[in-house]
This record gives sequence, structure tokens and C-alpha cells, in this order.
Amino acid sequence: MSIEVADRRPADQPEPEDLRRLVGLVDHDATADPFPVLGWDALVWVVGNATQTAHFLESAFGLRLEAYSGPETGNRDHKAFVLRSGGIRFVVKGAVDPASPLVAHHDRHGDGIVDIALEVPDVDRCIAHARAQGATVLVEPHDSTDEFGTVRSAAIATYGDTRHTLVDRSRYDGPYLPGYVPRRSTYSPRAKRIIQAIDHVVGNVELGRMDHWVEFYRRVMGFQNMAEFVGDDIATDYSALMSKVVANGNHRVKFPLNEPAVSRKRSQIDEYLEFYQGPGVQHIALATSDILTAVDTLRSEGVEFLDTPATYYEDPELRARIGRVRTPVEELQKRGILVDRDEDGYLLQIFTKPLTDRPTVFFELIERHGSLGFGKGNFKALFQAIEREQAARGNL
Ligand code: FE2
Repeated sequence: MSIEVADRRPADQPEPEDLRRLVGLVDHDATADPFPVLGWDALVWVVGNATQTAHFLESAFGLRLEAYSGPETGNRDHKAFVLRSGGIRFVVKGAVDPASPLVAHHDRHGDGIVDIALEVPDVDRCIAHARAQGATVLVEPHDSTDEFGTVRSAAIATYGDTRHTLVDRSRYDGPYLPGYVPRRSTYSPRAKRIIQAIDHVVGNVELGRMDHWVEFYRRVMGFQNMAEFVGDDIATDYSALMSKVVANGNHRVKFPLNEPAVSRKRSQIDEYLEFYQGPGVQHIALATSDILTAVDTLRSEGVEFLDTPATYYEDPELRARIGRVRTPVEELQKRGILVDRDEDGYLLQIFTKPLTDRPTVFFELIERHGSLGFGKGNFKALFQAIEREQAARGNL
């Protein structure tokens, strides 16, 4: 009798070639990396009502509930729902015990991302390197075990109250982590998945701190600067932010980092920093292979997107800038989808309005066609749209 070696990639994860196209991977040999990173493990949210946020992510974004921890499983502190769509894993936590530490976190920040967890092949090696480079180790490497196996993990601090938990799940077959039980919901999911992978996660940091964090990711995690950045040229008049991007070797994990720029008007980054009460995750870009369907589906579920001015599509420079794009511009305009091109190809993107009560975290949908960029060419059009929203809230 032969025993097949289990492919640990869940059945509905994108195939490697699809992933390469979806999120713009490049070839990289990680064996010599001081801090090798395999990919995203999970984005962990702390919210005011995890029960309802989990339902929103299921009903609107089509994520599927896979695992759960809460009072019924012996966790009297909080409820946690684990949801997936392709390569995306969100963990949504909300306090049950009024004395839970999550209460103070939520009181300060509102709903947001508390942990950008990364999958690594060697937790101890990563932590040893991070410590030697001066990173703050929040949780020492340790094993957690249940009937599904053992997970080794640790955590380091990054900007604000955000952390990176480092997870080695190579000896684990459970639905998420020890302590979680498999769980499905009675919600009937759509047949077709509209979002397939996490493309990038953007952090907002304070004025003058962007280079500090770029250097942190370079030194501590061995990340490299990606070419795209927004400097003084775009910043002052239109974007009111400065931005640089760091990524791991194969670009699976990409972190754009924003800081406010001194501009004519109050920066959108300043607004975030005020309402989140410090640095934190600004947006999560979700890769889709069909942005038209994704936007139509999400709109029909009540998700709101930033408006793009008609002038964006009427600008004769747009067609010259973007060249040949497979999707008719009329279809993009109908939905407010933005286009950008670089030397490698083009991308389609659109941004939701803030998902929560505070004007903080939001989603981006991105459909890549070869481009490895982030939509720098859209900054002007995009930020004019954001400023209109900001003005409507009285925060400009
Ligand atoms: Fe983005």
C-alpha cells in the first residue's frame, strides 16, 4: 500500500502559476535569506463585534468560515472566527470578557488589524536574526499542540500596536491553530469565489517615520525596496502622502509604507493616524482574477467604493498612458475602476470606502496583468476622490 504525501495547500488555494500571475511573483532562492518568509499566514482583526463582522465577510466578500474559538470551546476571553477565500485567511476577534485585553485595544483603535501573521519555515532562525537586529520580540518561540499536530510560533513588534506573528505550520493539519475547532456556518456561499489572494498590506506611519520602517523591514526581515515610491513630486499637491514599498524575495509579501506629506490640505494619512490613534494598517489589497464581477457582486451586497471622477476617463492622456487594455474602458468607467501601466504590464484597481465606523481601514481590489506596481499613476485621481469624501466628513 502506498501512502501519498499530503499536499498541505488546501484544495481551493490558487495554483502556484495562478498565484504568480495574480500577485506578481518573481523568482527568488530563499535558502540564503536570514529571515525567510513563505507567505501570508493570516490577517488578524480586532473588532467590536466579531460575530457580525464574520457574517459581513461571508455575505459580502464571500469568505467561508473554517474554524472558531470562543466560550463554547473553552476560550472565555473572546470569540475568534477564521474565514478563508482562496489564499486569504482572516481571523476576526471580539472580546467576550469585559476584562479582555481586546477591549482596551478596541477602545483605542476601533476595528483594525492587530497582527500581520507570516508563514515561515524556521521560527527560531527568524527570531534569532530579528533579535540580533534590534527587533522587539513580543512572544518567544514556542510549540502549541493539539490532536492535529504542533505549530511553532513567535511574534515581533512592528509599527504602532501591530505585530508579526511568525508561524511554522509544517507539522500541523488542523483548521487554523491549536485551540480552534473546525466550524462551518449555515450561510450559503456563492458558487464562485471573487477574491483569491492577499496582494499587499499597507501601513500608515507618522510623519518622518517612513524611512525608519523601510529600514526596519530591510534590516530585520531582509526585505528589499521595490522600485515604486511616491515622493515630493506627487506628494505635495495630490496625494498628501509619501510612500515606499518593501517586499520579501519573491514579492509574495509586499508592504507599502505611507507617511503624511505636508500639503495644502490635511493629509488623509493624518486623518487615519488621528482616528486609529497611531500607526496601523491602512488597506489590504485583495487580488482578483475578475475585477468586473467582483465589483458588481460587492456593490450588490452593499459594499461602497470610492467614486472616480468622470474626468479621469475623459482625460485624453489616460488612453495614451494605459495603452492596450483587455477590458473596455467603458466597462471600467461604469464601475469606477482605475488603470495603471508600467514597463511590465498593467493593473486594474479600485478602493472601498472605510469598512468600519472610524475612517481607517479599507480594502483594495486589484487585477494584475503583468504590472508589478501599485497604481502610482492613479494617485492623483484617487486622492482627489478621497479628499471629496474627507471633506464630506468635515475632516479636511
Ligand atoms: Fe494598495
